[in-house]
Amino acid sequence: MSQVALVTGGIKGTGREIVKQFLDRGVHVVVNYRKDKASADKFLAEFAGQPVHALQADLGDQEQVANLFKYIKEEFGHLDYYIANAAATAFKPLLDIKPHHVEKTFAITVTAFILGCQHAAQLMEGRKGRIVAISGYDTHTYLPRHGVLGAAKSALETLVKYFAVDLAPKGINVNAINPGFIASTSTQIYLGELYDQIKAANEKITPVGRVTDGKELADVVMFLCSDQADWIVGQTIRTDGGLSHIQPLAQPDK
Ligand SMILES: NC(=O)c1ccc[n+]([C@@H]2O[C@H](COP(=O)([O-])OP(=O)(O)OC[C@H]3O[C@@H](n4cnc5c(N)ncnc54)[C@H](OP(=O)(O)O)[C@@H]3O)[C@@H](O)[C@H]2O)c1
Repeated sequence: MSQVALVTGGIKGTGREIVKQFLDRGVHVVVNYRKDKASADKFLAEFAGQPVHALQADLGDQEQVANLFKYIKEEFGHLDYYIANAAATAFKPLLDIKPHHVEKTFAITVTAFILGCQHAAQLMEGRKGRIVAISGYDTHTYLPRHGVLGAAKSALETLVKYFAVDLAPKGINVNAINPGFIASTSTQIYLGELYDQIKAANEKITPVGRVTDGKELADVVMFLCSDQADWIVGQTIRTDGGLSHIQPLAQPDK
């Protein structure tokens, strides 16, 4: 019986790198996207002939979350890997944030993750399930306009610990990764004309001397999905090339 993975927001960026690595391992992959159908069509064309399925499902809508898992149940009857990767927020200063921005951000990152784990636990019954959430460095470092997303990701990391304890007896392992700067399309769109400058600054202060496009993050996700990670339970692994050890005003010894 084929293994099946769900990678939310798997059309682009980090999610896409994760999809590639699952496909390389012969895993059937389901991805969802919110609205960018043109990118979804391009993605499907690129992976034509491979066992990948793309569905439109807004994770901010509980019914659409349920439909996503219903599709997996009807199509495959089981799930082995659930990678909670998609995120979106209104990047605004906290003083300008409205309640609906908070609700939407938490709906995607927190509520959808809780519902996703509940659905995944059912579809992983009797299997060695793996759940990996993608957090972010806004949980531990001040990033301009990231207050609400950082708060939601902090909640996500807490949920990872709780689900890990609740699901470990069922043979399901739950962990998270916490990346630093990712050179993804959405980072380019969000930062606009500041992108090159901020990317260069991150390359300069990150101890490994570069930033990731998501490939190295996918490597760690694959490790957390492997049997070799059985003893890592409910952890959030910093996957940032050492960025979180650096104080921006300090420079490494040359
Ligand atoms: N970018 C960074 O510097 C950075 C740093 C640390 C952590 N992270 C985290 O890493 C993860 C991946 O980020 P990324 O920059 O690689 O990805 P990305 O390029 O922003 O892609 C995000 C994907 O998620 C989908 N998505 C967004 N909102 C959704 C919703 N409501 N329902 C369903 N799908 C939705 C998008 O679909 P549409 O295009 O259709 O909207 C897109 O396919 C995120 O959790 C992010 O918070 C990012």
